[in-house]
Amino acid sequence: MAMASLYRRVLPSPPAVEFASEEGKRLFAEALQGGTLQGFFNLISYFQTQSEPAFCGLASLSVDDTAEVKLTRENIKAFVLDIFTAGSDTTATTVEWMLAELVNHPACMAKLRGELDAVVGRSRVVGEQDVPCLPYLQAVLKETLRLRPPAVFAQRVTVEPVQVRGYTIPADTQVFFNIFSIGRDAAYWDDPLHFRPDRFLPGGAGASVDPKGQHTQLMPFGSGRRACPGMGLAMQAVPAFLAALVQCFDWAPPPSQALPLDMEEAPALVSARKQPLLLIPTPRINPLPPFSS
Ligand code: HEM
Repeated sequence: MAMASLYRRVLPSPPAVEFASEEGKRLFAEALQGGTLQGFFNLISYFQTQSEPAFCGLASLSVDDTAEVKLTRENIKAFVLDIFTAGSDTTATTVEWMLAELVNHPACMAKLRGELDAVVGRSRVVGEQDVPCLPYLQAVLKETLRLRPPAVFAQRVTVEPVQVRGYTIPADTQVFFNIFSIGRDAAYWDDPLHFRPDRFLPGGAGASVDPKGQHTQLMPFGSGRRACPGMGLAMQAVPAFLAALVQCFDWAPPPSQALPLDMEEAPALVSARKQPLLLIPTPRINPLPPFSS
């Protein structure tokens, strides 16, 4: 509960979805917390029968004859489902992997804390507006996306025959890009299996490598016209949330669990942890300072 409230308050932008009715709020909370497709479908079915403010903007496009782009109900349902499914697990998973890596690498955790204390201090909670001034935080994010990309594959279909290294890929072939292996390729990365955020700092081998799809050795958001449209949001919101967790709390496994934490991935479309991340938070700043406006 405290985490959910922290997440809501750390994100500066108002929630994209706000419901007027109690029923809408309940279904929205169930969809997010349950994380099941059925939850999302219940929410969408409810939306179809109501005129909830949350969807008014989109819904009005479906009835506005003068709108340049006219959306059907099916379009809106697909859009909402896309955003929920593509945007929630990926970001939550990345925060978990980042925190787990930092717990396994106390020197990196200390370095990040040092940066947060120096740049933000302890009188307010770090927010998205601080991210550009926190190079080590950004390096931790990039290193996590390199080693533990939540979306393991990008997929395309060839429209014409393509030659790749002497092989011909015929037209109409489904092609999968292995984002996970690309980030761990020893031809491009020194010591590829180790968590070393410093490689992305000035002077490091990855300093000029950007994860937004222009550098083929790091493509956690895919590339090209079908690249992830949420990457800008994710590159702001994920580090801001993680930074607040690290700034405000110390994190340790329960006494029965030894370090390092198990880092095995579960087989799924989004590559989440196989073992749930179980950590005990101890307030580091008590009481919590006000949130950044
Ligand atoms: C750490 C967070 C995220 C990662 C690693 C990630 C990764 C990806 C990847 C690899 C793709 C496929 C790109 C391609 O085929 O070239 C994708 C597609 C997509 N992502 Fe994300 N994503 C993240 C967050 C988000 C967020 C926050 C949203 C929305 C709010 C979002 C919405 C989408 C959508 C709608 C697509 C489908 C785009 C299309 O097919 O045209 N993603 N994402």
